[in-house]
Amino acid sequence: MSKISIIAAVADNYAIGKANNLPWHLPADLKHFKQLTTGHAIVMGKRTFESLPKGPLPNRKNIVLTSIMSEGVNKGYYEADSFDDALFLCDHEEQVFIMGGATVYKQCIDKVDYMYITWIHKDFAADTFFPEIDFEKWEEVKHENHDADDQNQFAYTFSEYKRK
Ligand SMILES: NC(=O)c1ccc[n+]([C@@H]2O[C@H](COP(=O)([O-])OP(=O)(O)OC[C@H]3O[C@@H](n4cnc5c(N)ncnc54)[C@H](OP(=O)(O)O)[C@@H]3O)[C@@H](O)[C@H]2O)c1
Repeated sequence: MSKISIIAAVADNYAIGKANNLPWHLPADLKHFKQLTTGHAIVMGKRTFESLPKGPLPNRKNIVLTSIMSEGVNKGYYEADSFDDALFLCDHEEQVFIMGGATVYKQCIDKVDYMYITWIHKDFAADTFFPEIDFEKWEEVKHENHDADDQNQFAYTFSEYKRK
């Protein structure tokens, strides 16, 4: 059985995206994302895939959810037309990271047992938001605070949650 987790960077006001991009630039979070996901499978919606500047992320099995199948497999990624199909493609993976966007988080937040959330301590103008988290259902098992610094403009916390 694969470990299936959500991974997301979420602002104080639950913002996650604006104009099909991230509302912030936070290199420490990109590095954290890369460290956690490298060597594993990542599942994302079509819009999130389209937001990646260089296409599929290297050294990871990229699975893109879409109702309009193209030739992804020839271009370094897989396509799935349902969440169950995406998980089927990950059958033999040790770890699967659900990496957004909002439509995908909404579909799976009640199905996964683990979440890696980077809280970004500021409100952002946005058009895309993380679904409401019912903290009665989740136990925080990691909480690592970081101040803003020369390269990271905002304070942030790496949190991990396990379903109770
Ligand atoms: N802060 C973060 O951690 C984070 C992470 C990821 C993304 N984002 C941001 O979130 C925004 C994008 O999110 P979004 O909600 O607009 O789009 P999205 O969830 O990335 O993609 C939506 C598309 O995915 C496809 N899809 C989703 N579920 C499907 C299913 N069950 N079966 C088949 N296809 C499915 C559909 O594509 P078709 O139309 O092709 O059918 C749908 O239109 C961007 O701003 C991005 O930068 C932020």
